[in-house]
Amino acid sequence: MAEGGEGVKVAEIKDLTRIERIGAHSHIRGLGLDDALEARKVSQGMVGQVNARKAAGVILQMIRDGQIAGRAVLLAGQPGTGKTAIAMGMAKALGEETPFAMMAGSEIFSMEMSKTEALTQAFRKAIGVKIKEETEIIEGEVVEIEIDRPATSGAAPKMGKLTLKTTEMETVYDLGQKMIESLDKEKVSAGDVITIDKVSGRITKLGRSFARSRDYDAMGAQTKFVQCPEGELQKRKEVVHVVTLHEIDVINSRTQGFLALFAGDTGEIRPEVREQIDMKVAEWREEGKADIVPGVLFIDEVHMLDIECFSFLNRALENDMAPVLVVATNRGITKIRGTNYKSPHGIPIDLLDRLLIVTTQPYTERELRLILDIRCEEEDVEMTEDAKDLLCKIGHETSLRYSIHLITAAALVAHKRKSAEVEVEDISKVYSMFLDVQRSTQFMVEYQEQFMFNEVPDDDADAMED
Ligand SMILES: Nc1ncnc2c1ncn2[C@@H]1O[C@H](COP(=O)(O)OP(=O)(O)O)[C@@H](O)[C@H]1O
Ligand SMILES: [Mg+2]
Repeated sequence: MAEGGEGVKVAEIKDLTRIERIGAHSHIRGLGLDDALEARKVSQGMVGQVNARKAAGVILQMIRDGQIAGRAVLLAGQPGTGKTAIAMGMAKALGEETPFAMMAGSEIFSMEMSKTEALTQAFRKAIGVKIKEETEIIEGEVVEIEIDRPATSGAAPKMGKLTLKTTEMETVYDLGQKMIESLDKEKVSAGDVITIDKVSGRITKLGRSFARSRDYDAMGAQTKFVQCPEGELQKRKEVVHVVTLHEIDVINSRTQGFLALFAGDTGEIRPEVREQIDMKVAEWREEGKADIVPGVLFIDEVHMLDIECFSFLNRALENDMAPVLVVATNRGITKIRGTNYKSPHGIPIDLLDRLLIVTTQPYTERELRLILDIRCEEEDVEMTEDAKDLLCKIGHETSLRYSIHLITAAALVAHKRKSAEVEVEDISKVYSMFLDVQRSTQFMVEYQEQFMFNEVPDDDADAMED
């Protein structure tokens, strides 16, 4: 068993770039707090909701201090009061090194895997392993690249020579096919300062040598200039990278694991694989090669989980590697899914008891206006003051989300009539084109006979309100 974990692979994960999507919360760049964790009125895309933001900041501080493990926070409040936005702000404020995993409660009802498997994966996405490795690299300024291109066109070059120097020495290296390809790919030329990882052969361009700064005009303003390295060409270097337990699981669970990570099609992971990985990580920790970095798992719309999931959460939080759990809901007292019992927020009392509860409040008209301003800027939409006033009034009477949606629509309408700016008429036009919930409900009540399934039993009527 002991040597079973020997083959645990992590190296490949270093190359993974995380893809970020933009969308409803793309304007949020942090929590907008000052050093004393007080919320600035408008900062980092965040407006108002001062208490909740401050609370989120305190939790972040506890995570950074490493004091909080297996703790959980509930963000509770009406729809559109910024619960998801605050969670995104926390993610941004945490930075790259700390894992932040996000899921919606409903995601666990996928056909592909059991509910507990889905939750286990989510937990492991939120636990980072910081791995320290010593690698040998070659670091120097490129003096010359010589490649023997074969006479027959189309055939790949077979051989070449690369001359590198530091301030003290110069050496010529023979190049194989693979190295020639990577040099081509990185567009390396004489005057670049590069590093070559001796094990993987990976080439990284650090910048142009200062000695070449007179080429500045030819290189463009983006060029970064660096000093020619000193000392030996060969160096030992400690590199640190953070991968999540989930990434290690996937890569080790099947042969095409690395690709599965990109596709998101990971399937269920066998418990033996996880056991092996946990053992290996424990070993690394003892040897001082790795540290655990507990991150944050955010479960939005947590009332969509059922009683089995809640009991899983209860137990998972007791694990000493548990991440900080942040959940959000807009429900009041309602049935716990999978039971006939009612409970605040649809969450069982034993789990509720472990949660620090933070509430969000509805926005004032002024705050609404500020959020709409930020969204207009984010979507690159020019809007007259009058149009913004109207949009703000609409938002106050309907919902923040509805008014945010109208921005894009109104911009399209304005564009159609070849105006660079959204004016009042564009707003009124899209307001009559797209209904908000209230008007849509009104419409249903008036015309319900013409729809299928028009009977709404009393029980469900309150569920429809949000
Ligand atoms: N305090 C805030 N500052 C800036 N934008 C906000 C704020 N609160 C909400 N928003 C934006 O308003 C929209 C709705 O908020 P959201 O976080 O989805 O609400 P909830 O999750 O509470 O239903 C989102 O686009 C969100 O980014
Ligand atoms: Mg939300």
